[in-house]
Amino acid sequence: MPILPIVTYNDPVLRQKTTPVEALTPEIQSFINDMFETMYNSDGVGLAAPQVGSLHRIFVMDADPMADEDEETFGPLLFINPEIIEKKGDKITMDEGCLSIPEVTDKVTRPEKVVVNYRDDKFEEQTKEFDGWVARVIQHEYDHLEGVLFIDYLSAFRRRMHKSDLKEIDKGLRETSYPVKPK
Ligand code: NI
Repeated sequence: MPILPIVTYNDPVLRQKTTPVEALTPEIQSFINDMFETMYNSDGVGLAAPQVGSLHRIFVMDADPMADEDEETFGPLLFINPEIIEKKGDKITMDEGCLSIPEVTDKVTRPEKVVVNYRDDKFEEQTKEFDGWVARVIQHEYDHLEGVLFIDYLSAFRRRMHKSDLKEIDKGLRETSYPVKPK
């Protein structure tokens, strides 16, 4: 399975909306396998299709490394055609980063829990509630499918703090430990 190069800020594909997948064809399955491989290779906890230049409405994740000892773990998770149908619980602030914005992290406030409707690894429809780290990663990856990046939530002041980093990434000058799409 090939490792796919990751698309970095400010590539226009990261701002496009994705299209639902109609069936779990061998091509789509092979693409999903590559997404998992690419995510693990880059030590990421989640990866959305636009981050490898595709507009399929798919993201993969494995938030187990981030789970607290008392939190439930899920192993690898696949979300095809996800829709967040409800957000609930307290608003929680946590540090976030993104493979497409290497070495930039900042605090983002999001709801504690989400209810997601999606298709699983057998293309069967599921509706499930998630909380904790899983809910956090789901919301971050889901945003990618809508063309939204975590830096969009930052204040103008915080954005300015990251300006030189973002410029460097935009120009393709930032070193990464994983393959990125050349600018
Ligand atoms: Ni991201």
